[in-house]
Amino acid sequence: MPMIKENLKGEIFIISPSSFEFMEQLLRCPSCKGNSVTLKPFLCKKCNTKYSSNNGIIQFVQDQNTHTWDHYWKRIPVYDNIMDILRTIMNVQLKRYLKKHVQAGELTLEPGGGSAYVSAMLKEEGIDAYAMDYASVPLQIAQQQLKSKATLVQGDLFNIPFTDNIFDVTFNNSTMEHFPNPLDGLKEMARVTKPGKYVFVGVPFTYGPLSVYKLKKSSFKGAWDGTTYSRQGLKKLLTDAGLEIIDSRTFFFRCFIGVLGRKLER
Ligand SMILES: C[S@@+](CC[C@H](N)C(=O)[O-])C[C@H]1O[C@@H](n2cnc3c(N)ncnc32)[C@H](O)[C@@H]1O
Ligand SMILES: [Zn+2]
Repeated sequence: MPMIKENLKGEIFIISPSSFEFMEQLLRCPSCKGNSVTLKPFLCKKCNTKYSSNNGIIQFVQDQNTHTWDHYWKRIPVYDNIMDILRTIMNVQLKRYLKKHVQAGELTLEPGGGSAYVSAMLKEEGIDAYAMDYASVPLQIAQQQLKSKATLVQGDLFNIPFTDNIFDVTFNNSTMEHFPNPLDGLKEMARVTKPGKYVFVGVPFTYGPLSVYKLKKSSFKGAWDGTTYSRQGLKKLLTDAGLEIIDSRTFFFRCFIGVLGRKLER
């Protein structure tokens, strides 16, 4: 499992050469979509795009247009302490569920996962977990506050910087409801997932208690407003992305609906 470090010049390196090569094999240049990314130096050999890293976080994108999300991650006293407790309950439920579909040593990706609590917990259980977000703030929280050992990547869910067919489980929760074009994102998640393996998406449930919250004209934290999904609506989204539906369930006191899909074997 790769362990990413950074030297004083800002060059990234990975302890153990085999892990280094392994990691390079996983990456795809978001610029030219070629599989020619090297980590030392960190660039694409095909199109010569240079990438960077910050404190061990691999950066394929820089912060831009992330102000909505930075606002989301700015902490509000008391409110956020309560939210942390609720978030922990939800993420523990999710981790237990996902653990049924992934073994130690296998690879998971949580794109748009914010601080990626679930990835941190999966990593603790021996899974090679990769956490990705567009914004740097949640990744820094993951690193500094959660002490997450997951591999942290700053990248775009709509142009995932990983090659096709490599993850055993690709998942996120409370993410896809914020996008006007979730199907495009879901197709990207399916692309990086191994044939025969799993994609899981969790979103707010239309017929759950969270819908009452949606009746409010404006929310405490604007970034939380997003589409709610019925079970059928979410299943259709996964089916439209070419996934076979394996399971669906509500979780977190019926506030969320999750659907597990499988990528068809070629
Ligand atoms: C509601 S948060 C996820 C919360 C997380 N599941 C949790 O339990 O705390 C949604 C995340 O999506 C990220 N995001 C928004 N657009 C993105 C994109 N195009 N690619 C990757 N991440 C994105 C935001 O930065 C934000 O951290
Ligand atoms: Zn390139």
